[in-house]
Amino acid sequence: MKLLVTGGLGYIGSHTVKALYDHHHTAVIVDDLSNAKESVHHTLETLVNDTIPFYQADAKDIDAMRALFENYHFDGVLHFAGHKAVGESVSRPMMYYHNNLNSTLTLAQLCVEHRVSKFIFSSSATVYGDQPSPLHEGLELKKTTNPYGETKAISERMLTDIQRAHPSLSVALLRYFNPIGADESGLLGEDPQGIPNNLMPFITNVASQRIPQLNVYGDDYETPDGTGVRDYIHVSDLARGHVLALEKITEGVHIYNLGTGQGTSVFQMIEAFERVNQVSVPYRVVPRRPGDVAITYAAVEHARDQLGFQTEKSIDDMVKDSWRFTCNQKGTPSS
Ligand code: UD1
Repeated sequence: MKLLVTGGLGYIGSHTVKALYDHHHTAVIVDDLSNAKESVHHTLETLVNDTIPFYQADAKDIDAMRALFENYHFDGVLHFAGHKAVGESVSRPMMYYHNNLNSTLTLAQLCVEHRVSKFIFSSSATVYGDQPSPLHEGLELKKTTNPYGETKAISERMLTDIQRAHPSLSVALLRYFNPIGADESGLLGEDPQGIPNNLMPFITNVASQRIPQLNVYGDDYETPDGTGVRDYIHVSDLARGHVLALEKITEGVHIYNLGTGQGTSVFQMIEAFERVNQVSVPYRVVPRRPGDVAITYAAVEHARDQLGFQTEKSIDDMVKDSWRFTCNQKGTPSS
């Protein structure tokens, strides 16, 4: 299949482009470079040993996107482009609603106009709000805890309504749990601009001594060791989930969790990172971060039964690959 991949130079988008080529599909990448480096394009071409068309453009720019749809006759769209920093979404909600909703709407409109039948949407487990785990796809969605989460939930509802009105469309809503890790080549990975938001980029910054210590947000949760428990999934497993969704979905709206079903605490993650990589991650315990919940993990049966999706990588693989990428990027000695 020939796919349009928006946000294709970003963390999850770039790994998915590689997975697409591994499975004999081709991609046209759109990225506005607001949170990605252009050098990722060259890296991807080297990794897949092929040329990949790349356009620096905004996914909500309907004229620019229409020109691509007219030129390429896509079989599907994988829509990754979007703002994703939770804290920033609280201080700049208009920017989040404007960007994340208009891009989804623009691409859906062009899919309908150009009879492109497959739309794969990057959603997030954040749409479940603070419901108890395991989180399964049939749960009714409650209000999310921040505007970023709202843009994901509203995008899901928009795509569902659009599919209902245009039944030949096949839509996959992929709810990611916590993606970490990096391509095993060490050449693709997560390289956020500015101060990181999520746990793994913080850990790699502390391990490489760019930040003196990790703040552990609370050790008084009702979890085995008191720290927050999340369902971390290797980004390469996550990327493969997109290929399966693309290949398997038929007309309708299909919702899949992409997680492992296993919970890992912050302390367990620090322990694994230090043990596998033989590097120290100093930390201190600080008060809970507002909006955090104790435990989230996925119900994985639906994606397993319908898509044949099973994760292959362990937490040890995840911490090893995250650190390898960090060392390659920043010239940090890996031991
Ligand atoms: C966060 C977002 C979620 C988003 C997801 C993307 C919030 C409230 N939620 O989820 O909407 O979809 O990232 O991956 O921000 N932790 C520390 N110290 C740190 C950073 C994190 O102790 O410096 C802890 C957190 O308290 C949590 C765990 O590590 O228990 C994971 O945090 P994080 O990586 O930010 O992910 P989520 O909070 O699950």
